[in-house]
Amino acid sequence: MSLNIAVMVSGGGTNLQSIIDAVKSGVLKSKVKVVISNNKNAYGLIRAKKENIESIHISKKDFKNSAEYEKELLKILKDREIDLIVLAGYLGIIPESIVSEFKDKIINIHPSLIPSFCGKDFYGIKVHEKALERGVKITGATTHFVDSGIDTGKIIKQKAIEIKEGTTAKELQEQVLEVEHKILVESIKNIEQNKVNN
Ligand code: GRF
Repeated sequence: MSLNIAVMVSGGGTNLQSIIDAVKSGVLKSKVKVVISNNKNAYGLIRAKKENIESIHISKKDFKNSAEYEKELLKILKDREIDLIVLAGYLGIIPESIVSEFKDKIINIHPSLIPSFCGKDFYGIKVHEKALERGVKITGATTHFVDSGIDTGKIIKQKAIEIKEGTTAKELQEQVLEVEHKILVESIKNIEQNKVNN
C-alpha cells in the first residue's frame, strides 16, 4: 500500500536520502510528500528541494506559544493527508497532541540497540562515544514506534554490528549509519505491507 510520508529531519538527512532513493528505485511504494525540519539550515531540506519534494522549516520558537506551534504542525500533516511520520535524525520533541493524533503512525531511527544508549541526551555521536566508553562488543540501530517517551516506543527492527578493536566514535557512527539506512527502509516497507503492528 502506498503511504503519504512526512520525514522530519534536523541535520544532514542521509536517512531521508535512503528513503528517497528507495522510492525512486521502486523498493518503496510510498511517496515522501513533505520534509519538515526544526533547523532552517538542515541539509535534509536541501536534499528535499533537489528532489522537488516540498520542504518546510517550522520551529516551536517561532510561535507565541506551543499551542499555536502544534496547531500549525498538525495542519501541515493533515493538509497533506500524511499516513506515516518518519523521524530521521530529528532532534526535536514531537508534541503529545501529534503523538496521540498519529498513534502508531510515527516511527524513529535510533543509532543504538535500544534499550542501550538511548533516552534523554543520547543522540548523534554521543551515542557512539558512550558505547565505546562502556566497552560493548556489539552495537547497531533500532527503528521503533514513537510514543510519549524518548526512544521508548515498541521496537520494529534492530540490526547489530560488531565493534572492532580501535574503532573511533566517528568510524562507528559511519558504520551504524549504514545499518540505519537499511533497517529504516525495511521498516517502512514492512509497514507498507502491513507486516508491522504496534
Ligand atoms: C544519525 O547519527 C542518526 O543516528 C540519527 O541522526 C543522525 C543524523 O542522521 N538518527 P541523518 O544523516 O541526518 O539522517
